[in-house]
Amino acid sequence: DAESMQDRFEASFDIGAAVELYQLEGEHGEILKHHYGSVVAENVMKPLYIQPEEGEFYWDEADQLVAFANEHDLELRYHTLIWHSQVPEWFFIDEEGNEMVDEEDPDQQEANKELLLERLETHVGTVVERYKDDIDAWDVVNEVIDDEGGLRESEWYQITGDEYIKRAFHTAREYGGEDAKLFINDYNTEINPKRDDLYALVEELLDEGVPIDGIGHQSHIQLDWPTLEEIEESIRLFDGLGLETHITELDVSLYGYPPTPAFDTYADIPDEAFEVQAERYHQLFTLYESLDEMITNVTFWGIADDHTWLDDRAEEFNDGIGKDAPFVFDVDKNVKPAYWAMMSDEPAT
Ligand code: G3I
Repeated sequence: DAESMQDRFEASFDIGAAVELYQLEGEHGEILKHHYGSVVAENVMKPLYIQPEEGEFYWDEADQLVAFANEHDLELRYHTLIWHSQVPEWFFIDEEGNEMVDEEDPDQQEANKELLLERLETHVGTVVERYKDDIDAWDVVNEVIDDEGGLRESEWYQITGDEYIKRAFHTAREYGGEDAKLFINDYNTEINPKRDDLYALVEELLDEGVPIDGIGHQSHIQLDWPTLEEIEESIRLFDGLGLETHITELDVSLYGYPPTPAFDTYADIPDEAFEVQAERYHQLFTLYESLDEMITNVTFWGIADDHTWLDDRAEEFNDGIGKDAPFVFDVDKNVKPAYWAMMSDEPAT
């Protein structure tokens, strides 16, 4: 067996993976138990799956992950309490069956806002109360900043303004207690204006006493984007607010590796692309280790190259066929050059 990634980085941070339930078994399950110290659900804990209809909570799948984590002594991150995507539509339909976002009457808008915030409290409160002893970190809100900066104009935002963010954190604290670690999670946290707007939002919320304990840098990155300097700057910036840092959704896409936006199949990927990726992983983990006073968890958004959300994106950018290869295990679940590179303790060049 190749050396466990969790053992290698134990002194610095936990190594985690996002999983679908089928990956708890078979070869994925073996890799998971050997190499990782932390897990998170790729999908099954999102609101769409937890409360598909109002008041009808569906725990079976989430419970299976919780049981696995407990049985194998893994840290468990909860992803995610509140998000604009994978959220059932009923949240945003008023009692007359109308879309809340279309409401023009100010009194009814006010009533809708109250109703939506109540629904949010029920969702967050119920989930947090159920799992508070099992979860080590909560993604309370996910992706609240727009790509162009400013608050994302989601239904949550259109109906409640920034109130939903505050209410989500306060409710999580109320039901989770002082020990619950409450995270705000986002992607492209290295890139302006998004980075600085996220920073300003968190600073303002902290000033108002909103209980935020940590920042999740998703880190869906590419071979040369963002730069290492941008990644380091952003981690240091948010650390300056006194937040704990998690890298929550790491993958290193081959997107844009010359000359194509994506490879058609795995076999089309040249060895050289894997070597370039390995160097990137080496630099990245050298950086993370140098910042280990700040970073307590580094989670990959998957295990091996056979299962990655990036394949959907590769198809989108490559006329309907495409394959990406973002992880340190290949499609056959064998270690890649990136694995040896991230495990190396040679200085990165
Ligand atoms: O559950 C249905 C299934 O019933 C149906 O048969 C199947 C057909 O396509 O779709 C299934 O739903 C898919 C779901 O994953 C579960 O597999 C959705 O189509 C698909 O869009 C969804 O994708 C997920 C995506 O979030 C949704 O936006 C990805 O697996 C997941 O990796 C991705 O994760 C997000 C993080 O939560 C937040 N940060 C970005 C990250 C990557 O996009």
